[in-house]
Amino acid sequence: MSNNVLDGLYRPKNVAVIGASSTPGKIGYTVVENLIQGGFEGKIYPVNPKADEILGLKVYPTIADLPAGVDAAVITVPAKLVPQAVEDCGKHGVKGLIVITSGFSETGQHELEHEIVEIARRYNTRILGPNIVGYLSNTEKLNASFAPFLPLVGKAALISQSGALLIAMDASTYTRRVGFDKLISIGNMSDVDFADTIEWLNDDPATACISLYIEGFKDGRRFMEVSRKSKKPIIALKSGVSAHGAAAAASHTGSLAGAAKVYGAAFQQAGVLQAGDLDNLFDLTLALSLQPPMKGDNLLIITNGGGVGVLATDAAERYGLPLKFAPADVQAELKKHMPEFGSAKNPVDLTGMAGNEWYMDSVRYALPHEWVDGLVVLYCETAMTDPVEIAKGIKQAIDESGCTTKPVTVSFVGGEKSAEAMRWLVENGVPAFGAPDVAVNTMAALREYARMREMVADNSQVEIKADRAAALKIIANARTEGRGSLTEIEAKQVFTLYGLPVTTTILAHSEDEAAALANKVGYPVVMKIVSPEILHKSDAGGVKVNIKDEAAVRDAYRTILANAKAYNASANIHGVAVQEMAPWGTEVILGSVNDATFGPTMMFGLGGIFVEVLKDVTFRVAPVSPAQALRMLGEIRGGPILNGVRGEAPRDKAVLADTICRYANMILDLSDEISESDANPVLVYEEGKGVKVVDARIILKKK
Ligand code: COA
Repeated sequence: MSNNVLDGLYRPKNVAVIGASSTPGKIGYTVVENLIQGGFEGKIYPVNPKADEILGLKVYPTIADLPAGVDAAVITVPAKLVPQAVEDCGKHGVKGLIVITSGFSETGQHELEHEIVEIARRYNTRILGPNIVGYLSNTEKLNASFAPFLPLVGKAALISQSGALLIAMDASTYTRRVGFDKLISIGNMSDVDFADTIEWLNDDPATACISLYIEGFKDGRRFMEVSRKSKKPIIALKSGVSAHGAAAAASHTGSLAGAAKVYGAAFQQAGVLQAGDLDNLFDLTLALSLQPPMKGDNLLIITNGGGVGVLATDAAERYGLPLKFAPADVQAELKKHMPEFGSAKNPVDLTGMAGNEWYMDSVRYALPHEWVDGLVVLYCETAMTDPVEIAKGIKQAIDESGCTTKPVTVSFVGGEKSAEAMRWLVENGVPAFGAPDVAVNTMAALREYARMREMVADNSQVEIKADRAAALKIIANARTEGRGSLTEIEAKQVFTLYGLPVTTTILAHSEDEAAALANKVGYPVVMKIVSPEILHKSDAGGVKVNIKDEAAVRDAYRTILANAKAYNASANIHGVAVQEMAPWGTEVILGSVNDATFGPTMMFGLGGIFVEVLKDVTFRVAPVSPAQALRMLGEIRGGPILNGVRGEAPRDKAVLADTICRYANMILDLSDEISESDANPVLVYEEGKGVKVVDARIILKKK
């Protein structure tokens, strides 16, 4: 049991209600009523200046009149009275405040919210809320809220940023048969936030799994840090992913970085499972709160119906857990528990003749078998079998197998009897779902959770030695000239200082200098205009490629300057860059944004139409570990191209992943300076031959 500063709030021995009311229908009345009806065993202290008794409880006229040692107080007085109530509670030594009252930052009253936090800090009092429904805990028999009742008993905890959704989910716990121990309405998160609560729940013996409904974070990085360390599975449903990307972006990467992608990346790196919708949140909560993670890729499906078996097989592939044939010894043993025309391959089809015994024998044998990492058991209701008996048989076989480290999920397809059987299974710790693909989906999540935890455990970083001072000097110089971005040459210099392989690019200030440089760099060369006012160089006729000799260099120099002047007569022209012409390679794009919630965030995608049209890109919050960088390469749809297609040699994924790590280190190290950046294209050569950044762009933060 923890001795955490939040114990007073989340595990109170007694509760005061500031603004308790004797008028039914008022929140101050409902909270007192709920505390009584929930069965809270500690003392309840209503506080109201006018009443003597509410619902049979003695009323205290002021907070100062309360007995000493009050752990938590629910606040239900109007917003303008809350600062005084917080002050009085602080003085009285109340440890945690559950501030239900609305009318703070959510309505623009930021000052008022700031004020109550300041007061609470002076007294080491913690605030949950404001603008919340309250807090409910089955273990504490505590319904300190205006939600109607305690949720169905279970092992999950829900932290919700939406009060209304929490109330709706409270009722749904009964209809969906997904049990929760705690429902925590977190509201404006003026003080206690997701991260604090996740930390506390990690030490809470009643919580096996933490589910979140998230609208937005104040400090995304702390959430990631705390989640990464979580010993318990965390499942997040994030809403509001569509509006975020609307802000105008100066870089390619900026225009592709929507909240969906950035939050998805952050969850991935923090080892947090992401639910697709509310149904999925409930399903995953059920599975993750009842079953251990799936530690390998071998899923065995046992069924009595070919159709549901095929549906489940399809789902397994869809959810990233494709079925493999069971090994010969498993097939031989399972064959003993089915008719001749059954199949032991996987899915294991016991056929419609399957009775309780066959199910039991198969489950008892298969679950502990070393090849099996997870088991999905499917059943179609038949006239010869009783679903409840089958359910009890499955559970008995699981118990008799002695295997507690591998997950089992179940789906019964049928009518009311099947529904009853599934209720029985859930009550006895086996997640059961009405659709086979949900049983598989939740199993895939149990697998994904194990994979993510392995990745999170290996959070080693690439060590880089960078010349930060030199990079800052280049940036300072651009700022002195009043520029908001670096030229390509400057950006490449910064990249080089962080160990990124760039094509040799040197600035020529005259035709003669260009010719000399080209002779030194070696032919063919590329030449490009360098001007802070001309960012779209090709549009201005400012790029010439495949220049093969000195005469052509001289010609190109003159043409590029003339084109640039015609394009923008007032442009400040630094000169013409002479650049090594990199041989052909697979084009990819790397880039970064400074996300409002998570800070420096890295993007990777294939170049050309993959990024332009398909937006086939993936993100990670910096820094990026080598394991995560490699995962990024496989995550995009075009990823297999890097393995070499149509007889091409595989691309140098190791160096590309290393480049991603270095790039991420660079944007983190220079996060005060760099707003957005692109390396586009980056050419990736065959294995052993590395990568080359051909073009570079850095947009500076406004200061
Ligand atoms: N100490 C204790 N009680 C006090 C008090 C004080 N200093 N000052 C006033 N009270 C009492 C009032 O007398 C009243 O009791 P009564 O019914 O016996 O008169 C009670 O506190 C509540 O005050 P009242 O002015 O009647 O407020 P209200 O009940 O109309 O509204 C809130 C108060 C908090 C419910 C309302 O301001 C609010 O924020 N509602 C929205 C809450 C919400 O939806 N939150 C969740 C969003 S997801």
